[in-house]
Amino acid sequence: MRPIDSSIIALDMEKLQTVTDVDLREKRVLVRVDFNVPLDGGKVANCSRIVAALPTISYLLGQSAKVILMSHLGRPNGKKNLNYSLKPVAQELSRLLNRPVLFLDDCIGPSVASTVDELDDGSVVLLENLRFYGEEEANDSAFSAKLASYGDAYVNDAFGAAHRAHASTVGVPRLLPIKVAGFLMQKELEFLGNRTANPERPFAVLLGGAKVSDKIGVIDALLDRCDKMLIGGAMAYTLLFANGESVGNSPVQKDRSEAAAAAIAKAKRKGVEFLLPVDHLCSNFVDVASKKIGKTQIMDGPIADGWQGVDIGPKTIGRFGKAIADAKTILWNGPVGIFEIPGCAEGTLAIAKFIGDSKAISIVGGGDSIDALDRSGRSKDITFISTGGGASLEFLEGKELPGAAALSTKNG
Ligand code: 3PG
Repeated sequence: MRPIDSSIIALDMEKLQTVTDVDLREKRVLVRVDFNVPLDGGKVANCSRIVAALPTISYLLGQSAKVILMSHLGRPNGKKNLNYSLKPVAQELSRLLNRPVLFLDDCIGPSVASTVDELDDGSVVLLENLRFYGEEEANDSAFSAKLASYGDAYVNDAFGAAHRAHASTVGVPRLLPIKVAGFLMQKELEFLGNRTANPERPFAVLLGGAKVSDKIGVIDALLDRCDKMLIGGAMAYTLLFANGESVGNSPVQKDRSEAAAAAIAKAKRKGVEFLLPVDHLCSNFVDVASKKIGKTQIMDGPIADGWQGVDIGPKTIGRFGKAIADAKTILWNGPVGIFEIPGCAEGTLAIAKFIGDSKAISIVGGGDSIDALDRSGRSKDITFISTGGGASLEFLEGKELPGAAALSTKNG
């Protein structure tokens, strides 16, 4: 087993102050949550981000705090646009909490100020979408001051937005004496931080998805921590191409082939087992937008011209399964095939099953991976499912998250 690389800066999350370290009893607590959830026909289509924030909200209610929730939803570009209203989220949250949630149709202004002033202990309010104001993303100081005036204390439970240096993630905590992490923030930082920096070994990382450019920084950073790296999805073709293999008409980011070759070389240098697909489900026509593919066939090794890989093949599924089976820590992010097209999801569903069957500490992130777990009924078998998209990747890459850095630590 490889010793941990001394260059890794393990974030010491034990030092981060959380809701249990400060007195929030009967205080007005401003809580930044990430309720950026999909809506469908005016209803919440997936409530997992809301569910993930419930432990913090419930804890605060147990402290008889006045809970003032703030979030963004979508990218309304600084304009009020009711398609991005958080009202349906307030309804869903009320259902999940089984208590009333007061929804305010603005996030700043005199009516917000007066409502907040009159709140009873143990009540919950959700402010309207912060991004209806351009000042949120601009981290405007006057906007931050207005938001901060509604709270005595600040809690950040919005891990998914922690990579954004916005008013609600950075500006507001600067202005309040108490600024601590919620339970979700704490858990995300612990699992994606400490558990991958000091993993139980062997540590297997499985990365998939469309573009190697989105994950090359993560590959590079995790090669310092893991024992095995398994790559699937369209991004694997850039790595195979960089390795001199024929990938037919599979999508290749040629401008990233040097970085891909450097990653393969780094894996060799570090003694990391680096597994790329050895066989592929291929098709002679793919249209992702209409979710259509042409003829399909399994190709062993090189992919013929006129064909492109759409999923990992059976031999690769077997090899990946073996690599996952003896790991003690597994991190998975991204599908290994074009998961959204029926017929190209087998590899990703097999991975979900392997990880679900494993007794290892398993950490999963990314929409399609989480969908695959749900579809195969394996979500309950996963140690930690991350709510972060871009935030998870930036954190795994080793970048500082401004929203976490803005919080107090136990020593100051
Ligand atoms: C996400 O969905 O990844 C977060 O809510 C952040 O959203 P953003 O990319 O629009 O800032």
